[in-house]
Amino acid sequence: MQDSILVTGVSSGIGLTTAAYLLRKGFFVYGSVRRGAGPEQLTASPSFKALNFDVRDRDGIRAGIQQIHDDGARLIGLVNNAGVAISGPIETVSEEEYRRQFEVNVFGLVAVCQEALPLLHASRELGFDSRIVNIGSVSGYLTSPFTSIYSASKFAVEALTDGLRRELLPFGIDVISVAPGPVKTPIWQKGREQTEAFDNDRYGSMLEKLGPYTEAAEADGVEPQVVAEAIYRALTDEQPDPAVLVMKKGWMAKLLKLTPKRFQDKFFTKRLAENRRY
Ligand SMILES: NC(=O)c1ccc[n+]([C@@H]2O[C@H](COP(=O)([O-])OP(=O)(O)OC[C@H]3O[C@@H](n4cnc5c(N)ncnc54)[C@H](OP(=O)(O)O)[C@@H]3O)[C@@H](O)[C@H]2O)c1
Repeated sequence: MQDSILVTGVSSGIGLTTAAYLLRKGFFVYGSVRRGAGPEQLTASPSFKALNFDVRDRDGIRAGIQQIHDDGARLIGLVNNAGVAISGPIETVSEEEYRRQFEVNVFGLVAVCQEALPLLHASRELGFDSRIVNIGSVSGYLTSPFTSIYSASKFAVEALTDGLRRELLPFGIDVISVAPGPVKTPIWQKGREQTEAFDNDRYGSMLEKLGPYTEAAEADGVEPQVVAEAIYRALTDEQPDPAVLVMKKGWMAKLLKLTPKRFQDKFFTKRLAENRRY
């Protein structure tokens, strides 16, 4: 029997690349998609099965996990990847959008963990290594202006990762955060489209800089394959680092986190003006 891993949000970006990489590494992969059968790149493999659910839909998640159970699969890994990135000033972001940010990135992640954990416990009790990998972000370490709601959701992911790991330690289930910096995926374009829809008179001149700023960050981003490899290591290394930052100049972000908040304020203001992220 193959070891199985569930990856949420495999329709594009990091989830798609990670699912494809895990298939190449010999795992059976369950991938969640909200619509359709899943990307052809994955469905072409006999070791892939799409589960249809939105992470905000508890019944849908439950039905997906039930399928894994009914298949008699040995679930040894969960990668909580599904996510959205809302941007814009805190003052003007709509209630619907800031709630969606947390519904998907935070509460959705909790719900998937709760539903999948019985299967992960069962595999662990049979002697297999079981792990959860949560996809955080450098925005869960530091907060740039105008992506604060997204950042707050990713700070929450870091807290949930640490807390869950400490709760599951006695059961031998490890919980790891893989936090990327900028990665070249469709999430950037989705974010830009949504920011353009804001009515932002007061912040207009600053938001004009946000477009080029995020474009520069995206252009300087890593390929999703780099993140997929970090996720694979988090799932398979004997003693994985529980908090992995995957980004160019990651040391700089770690150092910046240690500096006084007033210094960080100046840093981000300057970077926004210069269209450079770090
Ligand atoms: N790209 C970056 O620079 C970057 C940096 C740091 C962290 N991350 C994190 O990496 C993860 C993946 O993002 P990505 O960059 O690969 O973006 P992406 O290409 O937009 O992929 C996001 C995935 O999440 C799914 N998703 C969104 N809302 C969902 C919902 N309500 N229920 C179920 N699935 C949902 C999407 O499915 P649909 O196609 O159905 O919408 C898609 O498969 C996210 O958690 C993101 O925050 C990305």
